[in-house]
Amino acid sequence: MYRRDARPRANGARAQHRRKPELLLSHARPRAPVTATTSAAALVPPQNLDSLALRAAFASFATGVTVITTLDEHGAPVGLTANSFGSVSLDPPLIQWSLRINSGLHRTFINATHFAVSVLRADQDHIAKQFASRAPERFQGVALVETPGESPLIANAIAHFHCKKINDYRVGDHELFIGEVLRANHFTGEALVFHESKFKRVVG
Ligand SMILES: Cc1cc2nc3c(=O)[nH]c(=O)nc-3n(C[C@H](O)[C@H](O)[C@H](O)COP(=O)(O)O)c2cc1C
Repeated sequence: MYRRDARPRANGARAQHRRKPELLLSHARPRAPVTATTSAAALVPPQNLDSLALRAAFASFATGVTVITTLDEHGAPVGLTANSFGSVSLDPPLIQWSLRINSGLHRTFINATHFAVSVLRADQDHIAKQFASRAPERFQGVALVETPGESPLIANAIAHFHCKKINDYRVGDHELFIGEVLRANHFTGEALVFHESKFKRVVG
């Protein structure tokens, strides 16, 4: 933890600019010795990794699971399972997620002005599978929160975000969307987790 007053000040405290952040004594702990367990040479550049190995490396990062929805040009609901969701900023409240550019939903999300995010509960893995499938009717049998004229929300999810799309960026083979959170809620409950390409539950 760093002292707050070690940050640069607007005026009258120029010396602070050059001072290194000091550790608060009450939180200071002896440093553990750094032990190298893996040689850096064991790291492989991505071009030498086959795509399965790269995917496996990415998949070691455990995430929550969301369903992201919008309305298409006819007002019909569309959505997909996404674990690329993440928070970006508190003030203003911004979130991000990314979509494969060869997704069948790419054009719809590019044209959309708004979208919604439902963070799935631990027992909603069947919904995650349904929204990741190529089934034409992904909403079949899925309970929704009533949101007339707006992007649908999955009922019993542990959090919901209604967002205005403020930017999209083509990044590699994905489109990165930035949304401003217009309304949000959250409920207590265990989150669905995706890790090593499997749906899991958090224990504890
Ligand atoms: C756990 C999980 C997370 C996923 N996350 C994303 C994601 O963040 N972005 C994405 O484009 N596809 C993601 N997918 C794949 C899409 O859900 C899937 O490709 C899509 O629903 C298939 O429809 P499409 O062919 O129209 O894209 C994910 C799938 C799963 C199972």
